[in-house]
Amino acid sequence: MAPGPPSSRGAWHSRAGFLMAAAGSAVGLGNVWRFPYITGENGGGLFVVIYLACVALLGLPILIAEVLLGRATGLSAVGAFRRLGGPRTPWAGVGMLGVAAAVVILSFYSVVAGWAIHYTALSTRGALAGLSAERIAETFGQLAADPLLSTAWMVLFMALTTWVVARGVHRGLERTAQVLMPILLALLLLLLVRAAGLPGFGPGLRFVFGLHADELTAGGVLEALGHAFFTLSVGIGGLLAYGSYLDRETDVPKAGLAIAGLDTLIALLSCAVLFPIIFTHGQEPSQGPGLIFVNLPIAFSGMAGGSFLAAVFFVLLVLAALTSTISLLEVVTAYLVDQRRWTRRRATLLSGGAITLLAVPSALAGGPGFFGEGLRARLGGSWLDLAADISSNWMVPLGGLGIALFAAWRWNDLDRQREFGRSSRLAGLYLIWLSLLRWLVPVAVVVVFLHAVGVI
Ligand code: TRP
Repeated sequence: MAPGPPSSRGAWHSRAGFLMAAAGSAVGLGNVWRFPYITGENGGGLFVVIYLACVALLGLPILIAEVLLGRATGLSAVGAFRRLGGPRTPWAGVGMLGVAAAVVILSFYSVVAGWAIHYTALSTRGALAGLSAERIAETFGQLAADPLLSTAWMVLFMALTTWVVARGVHRGLERTAQVLMPILLALLLLLLVRAAGLPGFGPGLRFVFGLHADELTAGGVLEALGHAFFTLSVGIGGLLAYGSYLDRETDVPKAGLAIAGLDTLIALLSCAVLFPIIFTHGQEPSQGPGLIFVNLPIAFSGMAGGSFLAAVFFVLLVLAALTSTISLLEVVTAYLVDQRRWTRRRATLLSGGAITLLAVPSALAGGPGFFGEGLRARLGGSWLDLAADISSNWMVPLGGLGIALFAAWRWNDLDRQREFGRSSRLAGLYLIWLSLLRWLVPVAVVVVFLHAVGVI
């Protein structure tokens, strides 16, 4: 069995701290920005049910596998695969793919997170209050098209992320999540109370939770699966690294349930806040990525206390994004620390700096230049669109598949079962967990890929 991690790698100081950090990783733009708009595009209802099934049957088993692989080896992804599969194992490639995916995700995620800071600033100044719908829509277009502004907010966000990760596992990752996550939940509940008093509350909830399938397509089912992986932060070794800082007494299957449960709760609460506001103010739910940057501000501008509520919402978005970008940078950092023996400081500063440069083309995505208009004309999407598409639709599912296959087929059964059952009240679910990883996850991911390339 692998020896415990060298103390210089860092460790969680409490189980609650680990849970908050992992939930913080999972809860992000995926929950508050993307999930509501894809739910809107797919007509709500049945889409949500399919999404819940994907989280429970595909995402959660991988989440548990990642944390267990990290804890068993005391190493982040590449090192963990090497320790269990041999020094020359090709599975290490799955870890490398994860590091690359983290870089690509961060390079667009930080731009969207930067927009959220901009909207926080706008709403606290009351700059959107009383503007016409057209003017509010223009504001978003102008921000996305302004290379300096988009870049400046992105750089600020990356600097914040790098600073937290450089402070280490306990003082950076754990403490930040323990402070920010309760605030996030409180802000969300505050907005929920306000949304509950609106005439659109009933229609909003019926839209999200009612069983209707009118707008669901095969593509929507696949989107639900891709999003289930993304929202749980599985597939790129982030939770594997988080597991490597974990003690042996934690009940990992139970922790996995808690993390996935909290992530799902926050995604659904976000919808329960957004759609009533959207419906009350005559906006359409199916507006795509602009839903919270255009339609939501339009709705807020017509509400009493709208500027305040908008500020609350965008602060919430910034906090959610930050605890996620931290975990993305941690993937790269943990790799450099474990495999290249860099100090954490050096690893974060250099990788954070490099990713900031790589994010610049995404920050130019709304503009007229090559990375915006140019690529849109040639490839149908800006640099940001392409980075989001390649990472979430290809790299993350492929990484999740790799981790599932390694854990379920390559990992020694005795060790695997011992790790799963260690201090766990859910040890009896071992065979169910293993079968989902062995059969359902590979079949589902392969079906998604075949559909994506047009075979089925
Ligand atoms: N889960 C986060 C969200 O929903 C994003 C995220 C953080 C992520 N770490 C990840 C996605 C690792 C995939 C893999 O916003």
